[in-house]
Amino acid sequence: MSSKVLVAYATKMGSTAGIAEAIGTGLRRHGHQADVRNVTAIESVTKYDAVVAGSAIYLRRWRPEAVQFLRQYAGELRDRQVWLFHSGPVGPDREQLCSMPHNVSRLARRIGATPAMTFAGALDPDTAKGFLARHLATGELATDSRDWELIAAWTEDVAAAISASLTARMGS
Ligand SMILES: Cc1cc2nc3c(=O)[nH]c(=O)nc-3n(C[C@H](O)[C@H](O)[C@H](O)COP(=O)(O)O)c2cc1C
Repeated sequence: MSSKVLVAYATKMGSTAGIAEAIGTGLRRHGHQADVRNVTAIESVTKYDAVVAGSAIYLRRWRPEAVQFLRQYAGELRDRQVWLFHSGPVGPDREQLCSMPHNVSRLARRIGATPAMTFAGALDPDTAKGFLARHLATGELATDSRDWELIAAWTEDVAAAISASLTARMGS
């Protein structure tokens, strides 16, 4: 059974867009219709049954446009199934789990979403933007730590939950 799902992402250097695309591909593989969009290109969420929203993490914070997306559409998101993810940890000593920034936690509570899934990120010297990013990208943090198997497994769980909710709605 197919639902319409929006995969909304915020990125600075592109790697979170890659994660969002992989989530979109996984949802389609499990029979859902998925649109993958940068949060800055979204004008409405009303046509979607479910939303997956994610952001890159910088200095322990979500990208401002991702926070703005959650704030702007909180009312509509509250009426939909919502999953959150963030991508960040890179390099050999990366943390396995990032806590949600306080402002995102507050919004997640308002929306009724569960805590964000953490995915490892990537830092590529060729796409690093800004002095600090370019500096960090010269060292051991310059890796693509994205775990495509973990992303696929999480997407499978999300797809199954969306299907279950659709089945329940049709039965009621
Ligand atoms: C300046 C800078 C600060 C960062 N701060 C964090 C952080 O606080 N926590 C974290 O987990 N990752 C942090 N990262 C890693 C990025 O989140 C990671 O590179 C991510 O994949 C970038 O996503 P993007 O390519 O979509 O912009 C930081 C990276 C840079 C360059």
